[in-house]
Amino acid sequence: MSAGLHEAARLVSGGGVLVLTGAGMSEEAGIPTFRDPGGLWDRFDPSEFGTWQGLAGLATRRPDDLAEFLAALRRALAGARPGPGHVALARLEEAGLVEAVVTQNVDGLHQEARSRRVIEIHGSFLRHRCLRCGRTDTVTRDEVCEGLERAVVGLRQAFVPSFESILPRCSWCGGPARPDFVAFGETLRDFEEAERLATECRVLLAVGTSGEVFPAASLPETARSAGARVVVIAAGPTAVAADVVIQGKAGEVLPRLAEASLAAKD
Ligand code: APR
Repeated sequence: MSAGLHEAARLVSGGGVLVLTGAGMSEEAGIPTFRDPGGLWDRFDPSEFGTWQGLAGLATRRPDDLAEFLAALRRALAGARPGPGHVALARLEEAGLVEAVVTQNVDGLHQEARSRRVIEIHGSFLRHRCLRCGRTDTVTRDEVCEGLERAVVGLRQAFVPSFESILPRCSWCGGPARPDFVAFGETLRDFEEAERLATECRVLLAVGTSGEVFPAASLPETARSAGARVVVIAAGPTAVAADVVIQGKAGEVLPRLAEASLAAKD
């Protein structure tokens, strides 16, 4: 076992762990990250495809480009299932070592892996929010993929009068409903709770995040300023400052970390 993994297991085995995950957590599930070579923002300009106004403008001005983006999202989500890393985090929560997972991901994989306390600060694709009445609908991964497929066909086949015309419908009022993810420039969800947990944790374990996007990326520093130790697991470059850095894939490192932490705990 590497020195980093050994030290990380010693820290995690003491409990009080808050986990912060990013796109790298779902990379092995087939969902592309954003900033890695070939990632989403490598192929699609985030200033257009990462803002709600940008997407709305593309629907009428460049429907084929929007169709290509939505088709990429559908392909990524259709086959995505929780990986060994997601399962390992749920196991550490079950054992009482992990308090919660704060995730930047919108794919619902932590909940599907049976993590119970998941704070989705960038919202979720598995929820629709009505643009007319504001109420939300929980949707399945299949329903998300069906909705994306309908939008792709609509954008490629016919003239699209407006972005809202290709959106799913609200089950409460029939109005246009948008996927409930947080686009750039929009307000995060439950971030105060995430910050409070960061000030209370003993260890902040950051997995699969470049640490490039604030305020999510401020959480490790918030934890450290309150006296916590920071452990990072990433397959590539990350801006997260840490006491322990383990280079590797989440699906390979986390199961080993869980095994070693649970053994050290007993
Ligand atoms: N295991 C662990 N880490 C990985 C893996 C893997 N299998 N694959 C990639 N990584 C690492 C990369 O090295 C990088 O550090 O995951 C990180 C992914 O970084 P980003 O693509 O920037 O994703 P993320 O940090 O989640 O982005 C934050 O930016 O665009 C916004 O809202 C979007 O939530 C997203 C936010």
